[in-house]
Amino acid sequence: MYYPEELIEEVRAKNDIVEVISGYLKVQKKGSNHWACCPFHNEKTPSFSVSGNKQMFHCFGCGISGNVYTFVMKYENYSFQEAVKMLADRAGVTLPEEEFSQEARNRESRRARLLEVSKEAAKFFYFQLRSPRGRIGYEYLSRRELSDETMHKFGLGYAGKSGAELVRYLRSKGFEDEVIKEAGLATNSERYGLVSQFWNRVMYPIQDINHRVIGFGGRVMGEGEPKYLNSPETPVFDKRRNLYGLNFARTARSGNIILCEGYMDVIAMHQAGFTQAVASLGTAFTSEQANLLRRYTDSVLLAYDSDGAGVKAALRCIGILREAGLTAKVINMRPYKDPDEFMKALGKEAFEERISQAENSFFFEIRVLESRFEMDDPESKTKFHREIARKLCEFSEDVERDNYLQAVAEKYFIGIENLRKLVISYAAQTGLARPMERPKSGVQQKHHPEENAKKSQRLLITWVTDEPALYGKIKKYITPEDFTEELYRKVAERLFRELEQGTYNPAGIISMFEEEEEQREAAELFHTNLPELTTGQERQKAFHDIVLAVKKNSYEYYTAKLGTDVNALTQVIAGKKALEELARTHISLD
Ligand code: GTP
Ligand code: MN
Repeated sequence: MYYPEELIEEVRAKNDIVEVISGYLKVQKKGSNHWACCPFHNEKTPSFSVSGNKQMFHCFGCGISGNVYTFVMKYENYSFQEAVKMLADRAGVTLPEEEFSQEARNRESRRARLLEVSKEAAKFFYFQLRSPRGRIGYEYLSRRELSDETMHKFGLGYAGKSGAELVRYLRSKGFEDEVIKEAGLATNSERYGLVSQFWNRVMYPIQDINHRVIGFGGRVMGEGEPKYLNSPETPVFDKRRNLYGLNFARTARSGNIILCEGYMDVIAMHQAGFTQAVASLGTAFTSEQANLLRRYTDSVLLAYDSDGAGVKAALRCIGILREAGLTAKVINMRPYKDPDEFMKALGKEAFEERISQAENSFFFEIRVLESRFEMDDPESKTKFHREIARKLCEFSEDVERDNYLQAVAEKYFIGIENLRKLVISYAAQTGLARPMERPKSGVQQKHHPEENAKKSQRLLITWVTDEPALYGKIKKYITPEDFTEELYRKVAERLFRELEQGTYNPAGIISMFEEEEEQREAAELFHTNLPELTTGQERQKAFHDIVLAVKKNSYEYYTAKLGTDVNALTQVIAGKKALEELARTHISLD
């Protein structure tokens, strides 16, 4: 950690969460909370609540919660350190420079220099495009039907025919040759010294989600090889973790993201009003990019090229999106090659229609599969059915697999029972998935025992923070060690310590954790849905059951560790005693 805990707490306390979030979202006060539409999932009625008392936010729609740091990290895609810096700045708190290690400081300042030089280069290209010498670039882009407004929005530019000019300009702005080279803007040539990497190309600056220029794509005007020249990866340009257009798409609020193949597709889509379009950066789509998308949507529409290569890329992409838990649909672009051509030929409304007709990715996969078999040859057809069975095994959830099984059987005129048998035999052979179970009657067990144990621990923490007086009543039974989840235990340790001193501060506890995911998980502890109970008796019983469940789980946990963990014995003895006592006594909630 760079900063001491007290400083982190001071910065947090000086940034009122309601004020900070009001700077980003339109919030409305209702009761003791403020409400807004959640920026982290798509919704039309506000379920995102901000509590001034607790200094936390919580969305009842998607379940996300956290303190002011979590919000800024998530919204701005900042690291914890960056969030601390920004909020310190906002509150006028000076952060001690010396808290940075020399190495960290060097790393930060190098990144900052790279961002500065990229921004300066983008400006240079931008003005070139709009100067007489850039006329050729401007005409090229105009021929491709881009409006001035679009060119401006994407900061499009032009790299002139002289390789020396950019370098001269950047030097005049005080950038060292080293930085210019490291940013991938220029290379050394024996004859001419340092020369621009890009010349006589239209330039597409690539921005991160905070609109900072991190790299460039340069396109030849017309035919030529290579068609695109992209900046190399640098400490600020990570091609696996950024997406072209996401800086705009993230706030499009369209309920989906459209994933295209090319820069030009994204630009054409935005110009037509589809501001949710993004593309990968001249490289194949990655799982990191899928995770990035998941922050903004759970539904991705693929607008890949309609040719063979595009279909192949789409299939790959579907697998990655599915892994990341995103649903994918495929937009049919035919008879046009890509979104750019489609838009020029048929326009916005026709594309809207294609969006509404987008094909479920599983059926898309099966359809592509079908084209590889001959349906009038029984043998080939059987193979096709086996392939379908194999694909069905990729669904790990029974209900989902069965739904798809029924749908695909109907669509391809396969007997449902026959297909089911194929799936079972395939699964049994390969062990890829459990053989299909018959639909169960009655209630299905929803959670694993482990999940139930975690849930009880969460409920207990939420309940005690809601009614801190209860702490005095449970402390003879429950200690932080009873929280068998490590993160929960850390939270409980601090919470109990604070409750012991009579003041407690959940929002402060969250910033013990630096990772956004951990912060979210910690924050969830204070927002578990408590059972809705009306009578005092019901409440008392529920609370007693939760305490009992936490203790019982802890007792079993440490029993299993006897002999391997030196603390286990103490815990087991104490656990046994507490369980016996809890069986006899009731904890009164009054
Ligand atoms: P236009 O041809 O101008 O319509 O551009 P496009 O964006 O539609 O390009 P295309 O569909 O041909 O390619 C998709 C993406 O692949 C491009 O946006 C680039 O990111 C990348 N790409 C295409 N050609 C090259 C190349 O020659 N080199 C590199 N590194 N990337 C390329
Ligand atoms: Mn194209």
